[in-house]
Amino acid sequence: MKRIKIKQLLVTEPKGQQVTVQGWVRTFRNNQFIAINDGSTIQNIQAVVDFNNTEESLLKRITTGACISVTGELIPSPAKGQTVEIKAAQVEILGDSDPEKFPLQPKMHSLELLREIAHLRSRTNTFSAVMRIRHAMAYAIHKFFNDRGFYYIHTPIITGSDAEGAGAMFRVTTLDANNPPKGEDGKVDFKEDFFGRETNLTVSGQLEGETYALALGEIYTFGPTFRAENSNTTRHLAEFWMIEPEMAFYDINDNMQLAQEFLQYLVRYALKHCAEDLEFLNKRAQEEEQSKPQDQRSELSLLDRLKFVSENDFQRLSYTEAIEILKNSTPNKKKKFQYLIDQWGVDLQSEHERFLVEKHFKKPVILYNYPAEIKAFYMRQNEDGKTVAAMDVLFPGIGEIIGGSQREERYERLLKRVQELNLPEKELWWYMDLRRFGSAPHSGFGLGFERLILFVTGMTNIRDVIPYPRFPGNAEF
Ligand code: 4AD
Ligand code: MG
Repeated sequence: MKRIKIKQLLVTEPKGQQVTVQGWVRTFRNNQFIAINDGSTIQNIQAVVDFNNTEESLLKRITTGACISVTGELIPSPAKGQTVEIKAAQVEILGDSDPEKFPLQPKMHSLELLREIAHLRSRTNTFSAVMRIRHAMAYAIHKFFNDRGFYYIHTPIITGSDAEGAGAMFRVTTLDANNPPKGEDGKVDFKEDFFGRETNLTVSGQLEGETYALALGEIYTFGPTFRAENSNTTRHLAEFWMIEPEMAFYDINDNMQLAQEFLQYLVRYALKHCAEDLEFLNKRAQEEEQSKPQDQRSELSLLDRLKFVSENDFQRLSYTEAIEILKNSTPNKKKKFQYLIDQWGVDLQSEHERFLVEKHFKKPVILYNYPAEIKAFYMRQNEDGKTVAAMDVLFPGIGEIIGGSQREERYERLLKRVQELNLPEKELWWYMDLRRFGSAPHSGFGLGFERLILFVTGMTNIRDVIPYPRFPGNAEF
């Protein structure tokens, strides 16, 4: 008999029909009630076993974690909170699970413990809800861009360019690590390597993306990105996914507008299409809040926060204005942000960003026109001679969720900047060519996919919103 997914079964009218479900046992109570989940929804279906007429040896194998197939009549459920259940006529064990050894018990486990068993945490409500939402967001991203006529461009994962300067890179090599060929100067000779040169995993698809924006108009990338920075934080991964739209004929204002519309679309999409999972995660986040001291609890619930962001304009603010606000602010009763006084030009720390978003404006903020010195070489230089047309979108509880800019499209200006920063001019020849042949004003930004998922799910550690997190010292799975 063909199996039916639980999600579909739950909205099927029970008319005495025979159905088959297959899934994993969440609980088995009183030798009678099996709660089964097959991952199609956060909800379980209950199957009721006639234990008087079932072999003892079979009943013993219906344990939390076991995989089973149940066939029986679909009937209205007398139990609270469910509309239908299955009167099991036949139970088949597809995969046993020794209850003494199975690490997931039917109770809340700490996220720390679950990280140690990343191959099994997918069987919990929390992780299956997060991953269903992750899927929905990936789909919505493609839909958003497709509906607006953007093309999806696959930029390379292995690259020779290291010009982005976004972070330390992972080297890709086929050379013998113990005995690499060396040149006369004693340094490793990459001419003998697979590509005949030094190569790395990409830190961003932007520069390659730009070459397609200046041909197809509006494009986006969506791929894995690698940074070997040693940041052991709840916001950084060594392997994360980034979405990078790049648009010809957009200036910084068009760029900011697109970033806001994009994020609001994604949040609205989640509210509309992931309601059940969000409801569950909302409760989960509320319980977590309760365990915090009163003054650290957030004022809004997860669902309220999502609604708020999806409906309200983001605050736009120049870097210089932000510094003025911060200089005159007292984040806690005693001290001002001492370190910022007379320090125009410094990079903002996450405590400053959080203050602006969570305390001062109480909404997402787009900061723009940053000092050139703290931003990448390719950002468009403003006429004031000291700032560039950069923009960061800052979100409550997350900090920077998007980074982007209008790009420097003027050949002479860009060349001068490359030389000032001692960047490898020769390796950037193709990037410079874009400015020599039919250059155009253009802009783009990068959204950290996992930071988006953190925001939408209300999870608090980025390691819990990707199936197999990569961070310093961790690549077990
Ligand atoms: O600000 P970033 O470094 O910008 C770029 O890479 C540009 N090339 C983007 C562009 O203009 N096309 O990174 C963009 C975003 C950040 O705002 C953050 O959300 C995310 O990528 N991000 C990370 N997410 C998880 N782990 C890390 N180590 C991250 N580094 C950046
Ligand atoms: Mg950034």
